[in-house]
Amino acid sequence: MLVNDKIYQTVWIEGSTVYMIQQNLLPFKFEIHECKTYWDTCMAITDMTIRGAGAIGAAAGYAMAQAFLQFRDSEKAISIREARQDIENTRPTARNLFYAVDRVYKAGLISPESAMVEAQKVAQKDASDSKTIGEYGCELFKRKTNVLTHCNAGWLAFVDYGTALAPIYLAAKQGKEVFVYVDETRPRNQGAKLTAWELYNNDIPHIIIPDNAAASLMAQGKIDIIIVGADRIAANGDAANKIGTLGRAILAKEFNIPFYVAAPTSTIDINCATGKEIPIEERNQEEVLFQSGIDANNNPVQILVCSPGSKALNPAFDVTPSKYITGIITEKGIVKAHHQSIKKLMEEV
Ligand code: MRU
Repeated sequence: MLVNDKIYQTVWIEGSTVYMIQQNLLPFKFEIHECKTYWDTCMAITDMTIRGAGAIGAAAGYAMAQAFLQFRDSEKAISIREARQDIENTRPTARNLFYAVDRVYKAGLISPESAMVEAQKVAQKDASDSKTIGEYGCELFKRKTNVLTHCNAGWLAFVDYGTALAPIYLAAKQGKEVFVYVDETRPRNQGAKLTAWELYNNDIPHIIIPDNAAASLMAQGKIDIIIVGADRIAANGDAANKIGTLGRAILAKEFNIPFYVAAPTSTIDINCATGKEIPIEERNQEEVLFQSGIDANNNPVQILVCSPGSKALNPAFDVTPSKYITGIITEKGIVKAHHQSIKKLMEEV
């Protein structure tokens, strides 16, 4: 993706150092964050310097490769197993994290160099899958389409292109008229901060809406289609995504609006029979109680926006039952969100 006239991916590795776009500073400041050790990379995943299923997966794969390089010699086996545990403990919901770590771990048992090659493959496959998802998803767009999206499943959430936003970028490139309603996505505002920044940089017409405006816009017939990403999809098609997604899906059914989930097959967890088994991360209450931004002098600020002394609940994801999902846009095509279609799809991977 082009930023300040330079092409970037969200995360990459040079030698044994992992580089990533510092997403906690966006959209106010564009900075590259460096992770010299696997532990630095773990910290960056935990504090959401890097976030979004595919990007987390790529970073976790690189972290595993870094661990193999770091523990090349002494007490190797124990340290590597501990490192794997550390990486897997960073964030629990995104399936891509576990998928990437498993692939790189197995390759690393051959040699640290094999781990590095595998980590690169995982990352580049994430980018190419996203590109293909864009091509399939784009076919859902008419000459003129108003789309609503939740959170950020753009290129920042993956290595490149994104999933929910990839069809939007491609449709606009093909000359279709696309207008995007961007849910702000409380509490961390990935929609208002990241999706809006991506769309603005790509000259895609869009508007940020408060999360609670979505129902009214749907009732007024202003939304033609909803596309969201996913952090984990169960074998029966239930999909975990950023908190608030479930509400959009239920509304979409009520107002007869197609509701699509865009995700690579690496997000599908066939070992999770239904969405009930997907682990849902609960994050720090500070994310709800405080909001971050910049002041009039461009200095970063954090302000308390809730009644002092009250506590907050902060579940990061919810699960949308498959019955609300019109289809899942994958790199293998658009499939129905039910058990047989997903089983068949995963046999082809
Ligand atoms: O908590 P985050 O920002 O890592 O959440 C992930 C997401 O960005 C969303 O749930 C997204 O819609 C799917 S992941 C591409």
